[in-house]
Amino acid sequence: MNAVIAIDGPSASGKSTVARRLAAGAGYLFVDSGALYRGITWKALKNDMDVNSESVIDGVVDSVDFDFFTKDGAVCFRIDGVEPGLELRTEKINTKVSIIATYPSVREKVVSLLRGMRELGNLVIEGRDITTAVFPDARYKFYLDASPEERARRRHVEMAEREDIAEEAVLDSITKRDEIDTTRERDPLRVAEDAEIVDTTSMDLEEVIDYIAGRIEV
Ligand code: CDP
Repeated sequence: MNAVIAIDGPSASGKSTVARRLAAGAGYLFVDSGALYRGITWKALKNDMDVNSESVIDGVVDSVDFDFFTKDGAVCFRIDGVEPGLELRTEKINTKVSIIATYPSVREKVVSLLRGMRELGNLVIEGRDITTAVFPDARYKFYLDASPEERARRRHVEMAEREDIAEEAVLDSITKRDEIDTTRERDPLRVAEDAEIVDTTSMDLEEVIDYIAGRIEV
């Protein structure tokens, strides 16, 4: 069975950059699980569908065709033949993705696709329910956290390259998303009992990577 290093945490806690770098260092494949939830949201919005209607989104889940491939050490995908790329990271998707991620049909589909990725190789995978629901048997489990203000600052720097958005609006958006993600009925974001919490509020990226790399043996 291939090894899994699982990292959960709230928005902009540094999970994806840290996971990508750890994967590169270990020769593991990097998986951004949130991208799959974003992909389903992208397809729904592209087709002018109502994301507030669970039955409408159930239909999207039934018809969506994910085609996975590996590129630059990461698991990537096309949806219905198209690679959505940075379109997944817009504020429009940010505001809707957590709504569709509450729907059981969406979660079942994504969890099953993510579990299948273990066949592709050893994984470093990040998200909200990886340590608790997707791979509870992961070899290493981390929960990355940081204060909401610090997370908003980081996410704003990242988004400002592509979109004109104020830092306060980013803080408001990630706070709303945290609330939905931590209170949803199915597989909410929480700290797994056996996960190590890493508070990155006053750490820079290199410090976080060095710290976690020092905790794992691959
Ligand atoms: O990059 P960021 O941390 O802002 O978000 P993401 O990892 O792309 O995840 C987007 C959204 O997908 C989250 O806010 C959750 O609502 C949902 N998600 C989830 O429910 N479970 C996961 N394992 C990953 C993401």
